Amino acid sequence: MVTPNLVRKISSKRTLVSSMIVGAVAVTILITISVINARVINDDPKELQLLHVIYRHGPRTPADTYPNDPYINETFYPVGWGQITNPGKVQMYELGKWLRERYGNFLGSLYNPSEFYVQTTDVDRTKVTAQLINAGLWPPNSVQKWGPLDWQPIPVHSEPLHLDHLLLVRKPCAQYSLELERLEKSDEIQLMLNEYKDLFNNLTAITGKNVKTFDDVQDIYSTLIAEEHFNLTLPEWTKDYFPDKMVPPTVFSYVLNAYNTKLQRLKGDILKKLHRCSSTPINYTRL
Ligand SMILES: *[C@@H]1O[C@H](CO)[C@@H](O)[C@H](O)[C@H]1NC(C)=O
Ligand SMILES: *[C@@H]1O[C@H](CO)[C@@H](O)[C@H](O)[C@H]1NC(C)=O
Ligand SMILES: *[C@@H]1O[C@H](CO)[C@@H](O)[C@H](O)[C@H]1NC(C)=O
Ligand SMILES: *[C@@H]1O[C@H](CO)[C@@H](O)[C@H](O)[C@H]1NC(C)=O
Repeated sequence: MVTPNLVRKISSKRTLVSSMIVGAVAVTILITISVINARVINDDPKELQLLHVIYRHGPRTPADTYPNDPYINETFYPVGWGQITNPGKVQMYELGKWLRERYGNFLGSLYNPSEFYVQTTDVDRTKVTAQLINAGLWPPNSVQKWGPLDWQPIPVHSEPLHLDHLLLVRKPCAQYSLELERLEKSDEIQLMLNEYKDLFNNLTAITGKNVKTFDDVQDIYSTLIAEEHFNLTLPEWTKDYFPDKMVPPTVFSYVLNAYNTKLQRLKGDILKKLHRCSSTPINYTRL
């Protein structure tokens, strides 16, 4: 919550930016929000007042594996599984610099915690990503130069996963679970599962993982894409399946999470919050 004092201070400037970064993939979302007074005033009557940036974490080492994975015993020394790779770090730092280039006039050159807010999921790779973006976006300037590094610390906020109702939405919701279960049993979804039966059976035989759902395909897909980004040579069988045959069921595994209005409403707190920030920026409640 912003203190009344702060709200008054911000509202007197009349303009806010809220920037937000969210990862698109279920396990690894990250979010930044910033509230900043506009410093770009031009002839355009549509003045920028509020900015949300939503972004996924950078490329990572695989977070998961499957029984017949030739890399099942990899250690990904020294960081281990599911962590941002060095090229991924460069990408995220560059993204921060790009945001500075695009919105620098609007943001101003001095970091102010009442004007810029970052929230990520409670996951290492998203927090690391946010730190890298912040490093590119907020190099210390004038009075904020503090010592030997061209970097300044910027807080990154998150909620514990079991309470997360905005980003990963892991906070248990009985109604959501019921509705998802009902949907999965519906003729429509059962028909789709049936269409993919051949693919699921083949993947089960090849990977040693029991592939029964769209999520199961997505798990393997995500492992393969991370291994590929890590420059590991993928096994021969993948030529027939990856990425082409695996993309539609992988995409659908995400679609299914918010397939109908009911599910969207139950998972959609983030949109409600963004809308509230945008429609009443003066009474800004932090995410
Ligand atoms: C992984 O390690 C286990 C236990 O040492 C071994 O049995 C297995 O063959 C190894 N798998 C691969 C793909 O290297
Ligand atoms: C499953 O494997 C069989 C036998 O190799 C092959 O003929 C078929 O095209 C495969 N199906 C899919 C969807 O890949
Ligand atoms: C993979 O190879 C490319 C091209 O050589 C290189 O730029 C990149 O840094 C490598 N990725 C990793 C994770 O080492
Ligand atoms: C600001 O918005 C919150 C949430 O909508 C509301 O509970 C609160 O009363 C509002 N505060 C003011 C001062 O309007």
